[in-house]
Amino acid sequence: MELANNRYTLGGVDMLSLVEEFGAPLYVYNAATIKRQFQRLDSAFSGVEHQIKYACKALTNINILRYIRQIGCGLDTVSLNELHLGLQAGFAANDIFFTPNNVSFEEVQEAIALGAQLNLDNLPMLEKLGQTYGSSVPVCVRINPHIMAGGNEKISTGHINSKFGVSITQLDDIVRIAEQYSLDIAGLHMHTGSEIVDTDIFLQGAQILLEAGRRFPAIRFFDFGGGFKVPYTAGDKETNIEELGSRLSALCHEEMKHRGATFYACFEPGKYLVSESGMLLVRVNVIKQTPATTFAGVDSGLNHLIRPMFYKAHHDITNLSHPEGAVKPYSVAGYICETDNFAWDRAMNEVRVGDVLAFHNAGAYGIMMASNYNSRPRPAEVLIIDGKAHLIRRRETLEDILQTQISLPQLC
Ligand code: LLP
Repeated sequence: MELANNRYTLGGVDMLSLVEEFGAPLYVYNAATIKRQFQRLDSAFSGVEHQIKYACKALTNINILRYIRQIGCGLDTVSLNELHLGLQAGFAANDIFFTPNNVSFEEVQEAIALGAQLNLDNLPMLEKLGQTYGSSVPVCVRINPHIMAGGNEKISTGHINSKFGVSITQLDDIVRIAEQYSLDIAGLHMHTGSEIVDTDIFLQGAQILLEAGRRFPAIRFFDFGGGFKVPYTAGDKETNIEELGSRLSALCHEEMKHRGATFYACFEPGKYLVSESGMLLVRVNVIKQTPATTFAGVDSGLNHLIRPMFYKAHHDITNLSHPEGAVKPYSVAGYICETDNFAWDRAMNEVRVGDVLAFHNAGAYGIMMASNYNSRPRPAEVLIIDGKAHLIRRRETLEDILQTQISLPQLC
């Protein structure tokens, strides 16, 4: 976002004019930021043959998926619907990874029929796959290496108490099942969680995965997951992606020497690609002074952006309408009948009723975690490409909220 002549612009588009045209609250994404992040990641891992698969749970608008495909990225999905969206967006089935957790075998079979690349994370399912398909369906196995590389307990998935992956201590069981059914173990996978800050620990996890791979001679790839952290405010920690890329590439090459065979590396970033591209624009309804603070009450809430309440996540907030206003502390709160504070005593340019505030880093897990709580509609979405704003999802209406409900005649 740029500030010139007291007006904020994003990707060359005036931000307040977006609210005038499309209303508030509004999610806005800048395509150029997604491309920049993809290219940065791609070049950080250029030392090793690799594939980047966008973990689309972060943001699945079909236009975002199409844009991501066009810039040369693959796709990681966790549900059949995500898989179908990927196919509709034009991804080839074999460019789509399917990484489910606790789904039924029927769902796995449907993904196989659609031609996706399978990634399983429990032993009974692996056994069932062997019984049903033998060696005919290549499979990747998700390992839990038991590490904590960053993030909080809600978003870490590679530790011993996590429900994800097959424990590294059960490696012998994977080998036994693989041998029993002549499974084609095409790859090993780990995803240790969101917001990796400790590169050393992440690389320890990678080393565990590579060594586990020695038990499977036909391996073609190792998937190191996503979780690369972007800064949420000035000075915030972020994954040192260039350092991680060059050290991981070196590890992979050492392992290739050890195996006497090559393989490629896969990565599944979600946040890294889309978090910084997105902003949520909201309008201020009320300024309320209390003995504790000054609230700026906005026309949004935990129904639109739940990360601050759910993870205590920090999102920078800018007052787009009053860049020259005196800086004062405000607590920004939503309109939901719950405590949905976005920020407490945050220094902001003076906020007035009617001003438009912008939440930063709202591209990942923003609209995707939105709900209709309090029967509020979800916001519209706009994508900025080449200096032009395009509506990519209309705002929901009361009709949308009623659409899936069935009126019983006896109650009418
Ligand atoms: N791969 C797998 C198997 C995953 O489960 C996830 C995220 C990713 C990749 C992408 O992780 P990322 O690069 O986006 O950190 N809603 C939380 C994050 C939960 C992530 C769930 N899995 C948040 O808003 O922080």
